[in-house]
Amino acid sequence: PNAPILISFPETNELVDSLAKFITKAQKDSIDKKGRFTIALSGGSLPKMLRGLIDNPQIKWAHWQVYYVDERVVPLDHPDSNHRACTENLFSKVPIPADNIHAIDTTLLNDLEELSDAYEKTLIHEFAQKDAARFPVFDLILLGMGPDGHTASLFPGHDLLNEEDRWVAYVDDSPKPPPKRITFTYPVINHAARVAFVAAGKEKAETLPTILDHPEEGLPSSRVKPVFPGQLYWFVDNAAASKVAYP
Ligand code: 6PG
Repeated sequence: PNAPILISFPETNELVDSLAKFITKAQKDSIDKKGRFTIALSGGSLPKMLRGLIDNPQIKWAHWQVYYVDERVVPLDHPDSNHRACTENLFSKVPIPADNIHAIDTTLLNDLEELSDAYEKTLIHEFAQKDAARFPVFDLILLGMGPDGHTASLFPGHDLLNEEDRWVAYVDDSPKPPPKRITFTYPVINHAARVAFVAAGKEKAETLPTILDHPEEGLPSSRVKPVFPGQLYWFVDNAAASKVAYP
């Protein structure tokens, strides 16, 4: 696999600008090649880190197809909803067609299995037949990392860390509230063309060296290892990177 690329910025605003440039280039490459850009977004602090995409004339919103890496099992207007966070921070401020944003089917909130299967079907629809494609290849997947090393809704020690077949699965025991979530699995994350973690703030400082230098500990974020030729990036600020030993 390609070695991960770690880029650290003194200030959050610089991280935000650089992330916007990176996403702009990824969408241009993808749209030039195949006329669309498939991207998956996380929740947490990530949506507000996307503000560099607002008022950006280079973004071709009509060609974006947006999915959620993970989503909390709540109505779309609930304060915990990742879709709501992305809408408030980004989609309400840019000319993206509503049909290009693929939220969970909230008629299925009472059945986690059905809900995650339905979301897997939306991916199958985008990426053609599950059997033929085997795994979807997103142009870009954006991830956050929790202080416990989790990413998406893949938590330390959970059975889902070993899922090899399903594209989307659910958890009903998330240690980070709310407990019920659906999430992409590693086969989906690790088949993307580009995967970028965005991690800012000193509460990430203790964990980052473990993730980067001690994959043998098996923390969820260490298991993100894109299959060649996929590339992994880390966009971090100096506060998050303060304990990383540079070679
Ligand atoms: C979620 C997220 C989750 C998040 C991390 C980091 O829905 O909870 O997708 O995986 O990205 O917990 O969160 P912060 O960026 O807020 O630290």
